[in-house]
Amino acid sequence: MFKCLILLVVLAVVSAEIHRIKIHKTQPKKSHHVARHIAKKVAIHVLKHELRHWVGETFNYDDGYDYSNDYPNQDTDYTNEELGNSMNMYYYGEISIGTPPQYFNVVFDTGSANLWIPSVQCLSTDVACQQHNQYNSSASSTFVAVNENFTIEYGTGSVKGYLATDTVTINGLAITGQTFGEAISQPGSSFTDVEFDGILGMGFQQIAIDYVVPPFYNLYEQGLIDQPVFGFYLARNGTSDEGGQLTLGGTDYNLIDGDLTYVPVTKQGYWQFAVNQITWNGTVVSGPVQAIADTGTSLIVVPADAYTKINELIGAIYIQGEWYVPCSTVDSLPVITFNFGGTNFDLPPSVYIQTYNEGEYDSCVSTFSYIGTEFWILGDVFLGQFYTEFDFGQNRVGFGNLA
Ligand SMILES: *[C@@H]1O[C@H](CO)[C@@H](O)[C@H](O)[C@H]1NC(C)=O
Ligand SMILES: *[C@@H]1O[C@H](CO)[C@@H](O)[C@H](O)[C@H]1NC(C)=O
Ligand SMILES: *[C@@H]1O[C@H](CO)[C@@H](O)[C@H](O)[C@H]1NC(C)=O
Ligand SMILES: *[C@@H]1O[C@H](CO)[C@@H](O)[C@H](O)[C@H]1NC(C)=O
Repeated sequence: MFKCLILLVVLAVVSAEIHRIKIHKTQPKKSHHVARHIAKKVAIHVLKHELRHWVGETFNYDDGYDYSNDYPNQDTDYTNEELGNSMNMYYYGEISIGTPPQYFNVVFDTGSANLWIPSVQCLSTDVACQQHNQYNSSASSTFVAVNENFTIEYGTGSVKGYLATDTVTINGLAITGQTFGEAISQPGSSFTDVEFDGILGMGFQQIAIDYVVPPFYNLYEQGLIDQPVFGFYLARNGTSDEGGQLTLGGTDYNLIDGDLTYVPVTKQGYWQFAVNQITWNGTVVSGPVQAIADTGTSLIVVPADAYTKINELIGAIYIQGEWYVPCSTVDSLPVITFNFGGTNFDLPPSVYIQTYNEGEYDSCVSTFSYIGTEFWILGDVFLGQFYTEFDFGQNRVGFGNLA
């Protein structure tokens, strides 16, 4: 069975990952000398402190207020990075690290908050590392040693290595003094045979391992982007050249039809929000319930109580870890509806059931999966149907129909 779905759960807080970006803005406009002459660890603390004004409060309510009109300025500069899509399983884009630049493909993952890439010092037994681009700190004039180890626990094992600080560039935006992980060992087969080298976490600093300041915070703090906002368009059936787009520093309204629906972040860590109700053919499947918008998870992850329920409702049969639906029924099944922020978001059966062609016949597999979370993880299957805006400044997530 097709089993290369990506689902990287950071165990410490339980969640997952994955993604690529295109640019209109080529020149950083403001100075970015913030961390230059300060010892790097001190710099991190300073920046963390400065960031409190827009990050750090937790909202536990949905006040029902529509914030969409609070953003009069739709002409803000932003940077687009084109993404590659690998068989709808993950999305990735190119970054560079160091001086001169060393290039890496990373998944832009809203379900975690650290950047890591393989290290040239990785173990010879680390198959994933040997298959991928490796960072060589000795070859970078801007590298600064941190002398601290890092470990990120995923469901399948841990990524281990050292922290390092260097210049990290995303489509021309050069973040100075960015701390990240140089991985010297990666777990089992989780990262083998994938087209990305590492992960660039875009969640809140609260879930960053070692409380490292995430790259996006520095991007904003160093004045490289105008607004602490980013957005994803994940093309379904995309290609490695045209797999979607990550917009940094604003919202690309060219990609959106109509208004965005906003929901407040209920707990900063993941991009978590409250879902009022999830229904299928008039039956309530779940809700009220929490959900996270996670570009780094391929499928839709469902809490225990709703997992069997939804799969049985759609007529799926459990065989060796997968829920199979008779392909002949798929087209006639109803949509599943997610109600949040006062709007219904529908997924048709052709989206929530994936069809794999296996030689002479197709198999149709439910995307409703279970990994032990109490919240829903709306991964690429869901996010691919909408434009998703992630707004640190106003502590909210926005969803809009694709243009
Ligand atoms: C790392 O870079 C240094 C300096 O350019 C070079 O001497 C060394 O061979 C490189 N290491 C590896 C393993 O490529
Ligand atoms: C990092 O881990 C290695 C191997 O476990 C250990 O020898 C080293 O002392 C650690 N370094 C730091 C700074 O903790
Ligand atoms: C993706 O491909 C599948 C199978 O060929 C098709 O049913 C679906 O409509 C396509 N989706 C998009 C967004 O093009
Ligand atoms: C949807 O609900 C209607 C009305 O209860 C029922 O007749 C129909 O069989 C249901 N459809 C499916 C696919 O379960």
